[in-house]
Amino acid sequence: MPDPLLRIEHLDAFYGDVQVLWDISLKIYPGEVVAVIGPNGAGKSTLMCAIMGLVRARGRGGPVVTYDGQALDGVSPEEVVRKGITLVPEGATVFPDMSCMDNLRLGAYSLKDRDRETALLEEVLTLFPKLRERSRQTAKTLSGGERQMLAIARALMSQPRFLLLDEPSLGLHPLMVSLIFENIEKINERGVTVLLVEQKVTFALKMSDRAYVLENGHVVLDGPGESLLGDEHVRKAYLSVS
Ligand SMILES: Nc1ncnc2c1ncn2[C@@H]1O[C@H](COP(=O)(O)OP(=O)(O)OP(=O)(O)O)[C@@H](O)[C@H]1O
Ligand SMILES: [Mg+2]
Repeated sequence: MPDPLLRIEHLDAFYGDVQVLWDISLKIYPGEVVAVIGPNGAGKSTLMCAIMGLVRARGRGGPVVTYDGQALDGVSPEEVVRKGITLVPEGATVFPDMSCMDNLRLGAYSLKDRDRETALLEEVLTLFPKLRERSRQTAKTLSGGERQMLAIARALMSQPRFLLLDEPSLGLHPLMVSLIFENIEKINERGVTVLLVEQKVTFALKMSDRAYVLENGHVVLDGPGESLLGDEHVRKAYLSVS
C-alpha cells in the first residue's frame, strides 16, 4: 500500500464555539475516488472546508490534516491550493459576465507560462466539448449543468493533484448528472485523486473506490463503495430500500 495522499486524524471542527465534526479520521490514497455521503447538515461540506483550511479545526495533539507527508495545520487556503488541492464548492459560482474561455483562463491565473496555459485549455476543452461550443458565450447564458461543468473545468485549470467536489450534480437533470460523473471518472483516469461529496448515493458509491458515511458530524461507516451499496443501514437510510 502506498502512503496516503491525504490523512485526517482525530479532526474536530467548529463554527465559533459550535462543534460540527467529531473525531474524524480518514485516509485517501493516490489515484483513489473517495465518496462522502450523509444527510443534510451532517458536516460533509465542513469536512471539505477543514481540508482547505477554511474552518477552525482541532486534533488530539498530532497533525490533523497531512497532505503528501506534510502537515496542513495552520497553512492558508491559498497555500493549500498552491500545494495542488482544489475545491469546487457546493453551488460553485462562475463569473457571470465573463466568457467561458476567460473563466477558464482565470483558473490558471498563477501559471506564468502562456504556452502551457493554451495546452491546458485544449486538454480541458477536449474533456468538456460543450464548453468549447460555448467558449465565447458569457457564463450567465449557460444552463445550470453547463455552468457546473465550467466550475469543474476551471478547477482543472489550476492542475490539481487532489480535487474536492462538493455535490457536483446538485440540481441537474439526470442526463447531465451522468455526464458529470463520466467526466469525474475521466479526470480520475488522468491521475487526479478525487474526494466527492454526493447526494446521488448510488452513483457515488458505484464510482468510488471507498466511501465514508457521515452522520451528525461523526463517521458511522466506511468501506469499499460497492460493499456499502449492499450495507443494510446504507440501503435503508440512503437508498429507500426497506
Ligand atoms: N458558516 C456556518 N456557521 C455556523 N454553522 C454552520 C456554518 N456552515 C455550516 N454550519 C452548520 O454546520 C453543520 C454542518 O453543515 P455542513 O454544511 O457541513 O453540512 P452538509 O453535510 O454539507 O449538509 P448539506 O447536505 O445540506 O450540504 C450544520 O449543522 C450547519 O448548520
Ligand atoms: Mg454541504
